[in-house]
Amino acid sequence: MPKPPEKGQVVLVTGAAGGIGAAIAELAIARGHRVLLTDVDEEAVLARAHTLGGRAAAHALDIRSPADWNTAFDAARARFGAVDVLVNNAGITHTGTARDLRPQQHRDIVEINLLGTITGVCTAIERMTAQGHGHVINVCSMTSFLPLPGYATYGATKHALRAFHHSVAIEERDGPLDFTIVHPPSTRTGMLDQEMADPSSAIAFAEKSYAPERIAEAVVDAMTAKPVEVVFPPFAGRFQRAVGVFPRLMRRVIPLVEAKGLRERERLRAAQGIPAAGNRRTSQKGS
Ligand SMILES: NC(=O)c1ccc[n+]([C@@H]2O[C@H](COP(=O)([O-])OP(=O)(O)OC[C@H]3O[C@@H](n4cnc5c(N)ncnc54)[C@H](O)[C@@H]3O)[C@@H](O)[C@H]2O)c1
Repeated sequence: MPKPPEKGQVVLVTGAAGGIGAAIAELAIARGHRVLLTDVDEEAVLARAHTLGGRAAAHALDIRSPADWNTAFDAARARFGAVDVLVNNAGITHTGTARDLRPQQHRDIVEINLLGTITGVCTAIERMTAQGHGHVINVCSMTSFLPLPGYATYGATKHALRAFHHSVAIEERDGPLDFTIVHPPSTRTGMLDQEMADPSSAIAFAEKSYAPERIAEAVVDAMTAKPVEVVFPPFAGRFQRAVGVFPRLMRRVIPLVEAKGLRERERLRAAQGIPAAGNRRTSQKGS
């Protein structure tokens, strides 16, 4: 079966009501693709798609639900044709140390970030193999290389997602599918706002954050270039990966980076007129 042209592909994006997913949808449409924006928040994703013109449509999709995945793929096919590219972007975090999160919060993070994404990848493998082509792009995180305080379960899901992604890509190497994984650093979305409100996630502020449009550029570029893996920033990202390989080094370096993040968070809060208070991690031993 012939491959579709590089431009004008049919793209399904999850978590597209806001943040990085909305930016991916907007840029993909600007580059001539047709996009089914999906999200668990149906009202918000409908409103977002409404602003993007005739090459956009919206559909409710809770990525935890296998039935939702099937109806979303069917909806894309009915509106634009078979899905050429799946962008698995939806994800959540609950800020707080592992000891402070409720059991259900740990479960939510795993069920959405890991099991939901796995369900999407498996749905795509079945459908795209049957049609003879397809590209799965998983939006993961730099925390998949480096365990960070304040991100225990979140980082665990991203480590696991990276392992799943590459295992599947190797399993499917003789099939017709392409696989790309993209690792954003701190990105200015609702997720970062959530982290700003909680000092236990201050390490997110140790480095400069990116605009969601910058991450979208990498993801939409990947639809044609099909890289195996994209890290941010290209140089410092490599350093972070290296630190993650050496546990003793990691134990020494990360508290220093976290202290820098706490200072930077305080500076940003002051710039926003937020009073300085509670700038300590809530669950530090002995505090
Ligand atoms: N913002 C960052 O700093 C950052 C850094 C690294 C990686 N990421 C990753 O990028 C992706 C997008 O994050 P973001 O910052 O745009 O987050 P965001 O919170 O701005 O947007 C996430 C979207 O996912 C949707 N969503 C939540 N649960 C869902 C579910 N069960 N099914 C379908 N949709 C669901 C939300 O409604 C929301 O529209 C996530 O996978 C996140 O882990 C973000």
